[in-house]
Amino acid sequence: MRMSADIGVYGLGTMGSALALNFAENGFSVAVSNREPDWIDPFLTEADGLAGDVHGFAELADFVEAIKAPRTILFMIPSGAPMDAMIDTVVPLLSDGDTIIDGGNADFNATRARNDRLNGTGVHFVGMGVSGGAEGARHGPSMMVGGSDHSWAQFRPMAEAIAAKFETDPCVAHVGPDGAGHFVKTVHNGIEYADMQMIAEIYGIQRDMAKRAPADIGAMFARWDDGALHSYLTEIAAKVLTATDDASEKPMVDLIKDAAGQKGTGRWTVIEALKLGQSASAIEAAVGARGWSSELEARRYGEEVLDRGQPTDAPTEADLEAAMLAGRIISHAQGFRVMTTASETFGWDLDMARIAEIWRAGCIIRSAFLDDFSDAFREAMPHDHMIFAPAIRDRLTSAIPSLRRVVASATLAGQPVPALAAALAWHDSMGRARGTANMIQGLRDYFGAHGFERIDASGTHHGSW
Ligand code: 6PG
Repeated sequence: MRMSADIGVYGLGTMGSALALNFAENGFSVAVSNREPDWIDPFLTEADGLAGDVHGFAELADFVEAIKAPRTILFMIPSGAPMDAMIDTVVPLLSDGDTIIDGGNADFNATRARNDRLNGTGVHFVGMGVSGGAEGARHGPSMMVGGSDHSWAQFRPMAEAIAAKFETDPCVAHVGPDGAGHFVKTVHNGIEYADMQMIAEIYGIQRDMAKRAPADIGAMFARWDDGALHSYLTEIAAKVLTATDDASEKPMVDLIKDAAGQKGTGRWTVIEALKLGQSASAIEAAVGARGWSSELEARRYGEEVLDRGQPTDAPTEADLEAAMLAGRIISHAQGFRVMTTASETFGWDLDMARIAEIWRAGCIIRSAFLDDFSDAFREAMPHDHMIFAPAIRDRLTSAIPSLRRVVASATLAGQPVPALAAALAWHDSMGRARGTANMIQGLRDYFGAHGFERIDASGTHHGSW
């Protein structure tokens, strides 16, 4: 039968099928297709009974034909070579004004290149970050949309309908042109990495220094989730720590190998930060810690031969809570700073307050803090640093002594806290008018005559070493 779908969704994996069902549930008619056509029928069975019409098409040309022009087609397929191959195949089937959306976790550089490639063809390319996992995609994700105003005007009513809502505000925005959506999603994931690493570091302190059982540590995170640290990741930290393995009835977390996987988005945040002359050091520490975690054999050897620290009292729970609070503020501040610099470099005009707002619900880093962060960005922010916004600065200032105590005692005990320590070091670097880079400049000039600026004269100078 002939249909005139509001949107096409190609790729019926976990995220694609959840998003397609979400569109249908919100009353939109949806055309779907998939590389393996035998995935289509089971999907249609799942979609049965939802408000919107859903039809499946095994052939790409039929799928395209079934979508109302100007078309909006969401691709939920692997973002690298498969996305480029798909563009080659689908563009000849499209018309002027149609939009292709890549909703995967793509490298924003590739998204910019794809935008450039399609520029002038009449077909629009949108890179869109989608956060919230399968559950979010099905019932309300947070979405960070790039690409043209034209594409956004077309997609906006559907995006706002399926997005998570913070109170009544849909957690979706057209954050900027070309690769801006994927860049913002990449930074979201970088912050996600840092937040998870800090949670893991605090779990480690409680497990190894305070010798507390997983369920007991889980109960602590559950308490924190009722307070200032209220967030999705705090909530699920409690759940992960209190879960038991069905077969052995042991705490699940005790049975999981301590080697973390990663798909690359956290690493991209760090790479882009460095390219932009920034350092998202708490995020870098989190990416690095995942890397070291895979060196299981080397760490086993290290435990035998390296210094293990000295007996030290475990920090108090109140100090740990405040340390997590300070660490979370700092990792967000670093992420937002990277986005501010990217926005200037790429001419995106990113609205940081709006970005914080669309992260308040639906996404993995949603937390009580994001509302405060968006307020902070709506007010004057000295030197474009979130840590200087008065309300944030006050919260940070009262939490920092705890972060110092936690990092100090963990360090004495030989308990690794790379992300918390990096956050503190960055805070302390930003809190010094006279740093130590004069020494670096002296050394550079000594061995390479690189020159330096003087505090008492203009121009470039050399020392008479
Ligand atoms: C989200 C998540 C999601 C996913 C990433 C991170 O916002 O919903 O960030 O995109 O969890 O793929 O994965 P890695 O930890 O494997 O890099």
